[in-house]
Amino acid sequence: MKILANDGIDAAGKNALQELGYTVLTDKVSQEELASFIVKENVIGLLVRSATTARKELIDTCAGTLRFIGRGGVGIDNIDKDYAESKGIRVFNTPGASSQSVAELVMSLMFASARFTYQSGANMSSRGNTEFDKLKKDFSKGIELRGKTLGIIGFGKIGRSLASYALGCGMNVLAFDVYTPESSEVEVTVGTQTLRIHVPMEAMETVLQKSDFVSLHVPKQKDGSAVIGEAQLAMMKKGAVIINSSRGGVVHEDALIASLNSGHLRMAALDVFEKEPTPRQDLLAHPLVISTPHIGASTLEAQERIGLEIAARVKEIMSEVQA
Ligand code: 3PG
Repeated sequence: MKILANDGIDAAGKNALQELGYTVLTDKVSQEELASFIVKENVIGLLVRSATTARKELIDTCAGTLRFIGRGGVGIDNIDKDYAESKGIRVFNTPGASSQSVAELVMSLMFASARFTYQSGANMSSRGNTEFDKLKKDFSKGIELRGKTLGIIGFGKIGRSLASYALGCGMNVLAFDVYTPESSEVEVTVGTQTLRIHVPMEAMETVLQKSDFVSLHVPKQKDGSAVIGEAQLAMMKKGAVIINSSRGGVVHEDALIASLNSGHLRMAALDVFEKEPTPRQDLLAHPLVISTPHIGASTLEAQERIGLEIAARVKEIMSEVQA
């Protein structure tokens, strides 16, 4: 039985699937050829990350062939989940496997925006040898994270992991979530001690108004509208930093550029973009934007956990399907 991992899969996950008796194909099939490939090769399981989409048309073509679609990662906005399930195709993701990695990326973006390490690094490679003193002056208005307030919009697994890191660094943390979280306490490990710290849950407006750094951990809205648009950016503190590692479109890109140009925000750190894989150049080249190419979950550890979780879910689903 064949499984196609169209956006790749970690070796540990691939081995685990092979040990279960599956043939795992990892050659990238283009989006246009994907549905016919699945039918022709009799692929029973499609595994994707965020690059490959599984929309209604593909599901219609593959309904008699595919048993499941697995998303290695959190966001399933690239899969028409309800439609697939209505056609008897099981859909699953791996919601917790990458939280730690995304939280660490956000911490690195916060440090980079506090100390201009991204911009100064880029400038040092071309001008460091000739304009050292000028660059030192240009990047001398760094700030410390300790004592600053981080506002987390979306307090699920990733938001909570981030809170834990930020509290460990001496930041104050506030959070907003549309769903009342079961608990707003997070575990913070410092050395050999694990402490339970209460995180105040506030209205989104309050989080935006009080925070020096705002990090987003919410899915894209169903109607495609931005969670953070012009009005929300205007509510943020002057000199605050916004970080988006959730989904492109959660922050309105035109409004963000306008806010940066007006001098209202200190900086924006973006791992995700409205238009992937071709983000707009004016955003990437903006002097107050730090960007990474959607690598929040791209660590060896997260991908290994994802691969192993996928194998475990496939085992579970196939035993239910075959029962
Ligand atoms: C996710 O939703 O899990 C992240 O955005 C990671 O996406 P990726 O698997 O394409 O890196």
